[in-house]
Formats: sequence, structure tokens, C-alpha cells
Amino acid sequence: MSFAQVRGIEMAYDAVGAGQPVLLLHGFPFNRSMWREQAEALRASYRVITPDLRGHGETTVTDEATMDEMAQDVAALMDELQIERAVVGGLSMGGYVTLAFHHRFPERVRALILADTRPQADTDEARQNRFQQAEKVLQEGMSAIADAMLPKALAPGTIQARPEIVARVRGMMLEMKPLGTAAALRAMAARKDHTEMLPQIDVPTLIIVGAEDAITPPEVSEAMQREIRGSRLEIIEGAGHVSNLERPAEFNRALKEFLDGLQGG
Ligand code: MLT
Repeated sequence: MSFAQVRGIEMAYDAVGAGQPVLLLHGFPFNRSMWREQAEALRASYRVITPDLRGHGETTVTDEATMDEMAQDVAALMDELQIERAVVGGLSMGGYVTLAFHHRFPERVRALILADTRPQADTDEARQNRFQQAEKVLQEGMSAIADAMLPKALAPGTIQARPEIVARVRGMMLEMKPLGTAAALRAMAARKDHTEMLPQIDVPTLIIVGAEDAITPPEVSEAMQREIRGSRLEIIEGAGHVSNLERPAEFNRALKEFLDGLQGG
């Protein structure tokens, strides 16, 4: 693990392998360790960089954070690592940050990976729910919301048959600091709608979603695919919202095929 001083915070990240840079941004309330299997699968051919976003993992917690702020942190990390352009991908909240990154720095994006995510902003109801969750986590700690989130985050089959995945996802949630969690919840509540931007995306785009994703269901990804010219959609059977952890072999195959197809392009 390494740290970079960027934009007034200390950003933790892992960087492995060599070749075309691929930045992978984790979801909420997770950290960079969720990409372990992907980094292992890609490191022979790619330089894989997995940061902890502001307020998450071992990166500094700040009271306020926006998706745009997190995107700027990622750009500053790229500067530190002397990476001009990269494949940028994210799962769920990481996907929100990926879209914010593309919005602000389109010239720095070689290709996009949008996993279990959505381009829309929150509804009013979802926003209110985030504010309540933020209060709850500040008063009662992470376990108060982890129990409510787990059944939505994982496919029923994962919950029944894969206790090690359940424990890993729960472990990431419990490691989150309440202040960082509350800031991320408020940041997601305030995020912009990027639906209008989708037809303007002109880089190769891979969309991945778990067939049983209850948080960002496959219909949302299907609609994104219709809007992003030439994009490719992979629906992963048996996976819920955390598709990269629930079905790493299938996720990695899709990822690798997509990245290998970019070579020379
Ligand atoms: C995530 O996995 O990053 C979150 O579920 C996203 C969200 O709550 O909108």
C-alpha cells in the first residue's frame, strides 16, 4: 500500500502490474480491497491502481466530500503517478465518481467501466433516506446500517451459500468510519444527474451488472447501454450488487476481454 498527498488529503492506494493504466474505484461503504481479485487477474498485462476514495479505507476523512471532489482527487493521484490518460472504472458509488470524472476530465479517459451503477441522481425519497442513515451512523455506528444494507447488496444465493463473501463485505462496512460514511451519504445525495451526458460519451465503455442486483438493477444498465454509443453490456448471472466479489471469475473474464480489445486501439 502507498500514500499520496493530494489536494490536502492523504490518499491510500495500491498499484500493481505494468502496462496500460486501469483505475478502479470502489463502492460505498467499501474500500480498495474489494478489487483484490481484479488486480490479481489484470496485473500481468495492466498497471492497476485502486485508491481508497476520500473518507473511505485508509484515506483521510473530511467533513464534506462530493462526487466531483472525489473525481478531482483521482485526477490528482494520476498526476502524482504521472498518468495522463487511463481506463477509469467504478462500481456503484465508484461508478458515480467515474461519471463525474469523465464529465470533468474527458480527455483523461481512455475507456470507461461502469459496474452496478446508475447515471441518475437520487430521488427526493432516496435523499431523505441518506440523511436519516447519516444521522443513524453518527449516533449508533456502522453496525446499525450494515445489517440493513447487506441483504440488498448481495444476491440471495450469495447470502445463503457464500459466508466468506458475506463476512468480507460486512467487514468492509464495519471498518468504515462513521464520519466518512455520513460524508459519503451526503455526497451521494447531492450528486448530479449524468443521464444527459451519456450520448456524448465517445470512448469504449463496458457496463457490467449482477443479474440479481437489487440496488442498481439490470434495467438501469440496459438503459445506459442504449444511451452510450457502442457500449457493451455484461449481465452476470448469480451476482447481486457487488458483482465483482460475488462472481469474480465471470467479472474478470468480461473485464479482461474488454481491456484486451482496447490494445492497439
Ligand atoms: C454503493 O454500492 O456504492 C452504494 O450502494 C451506492 C448507493 O447507495 O447509491
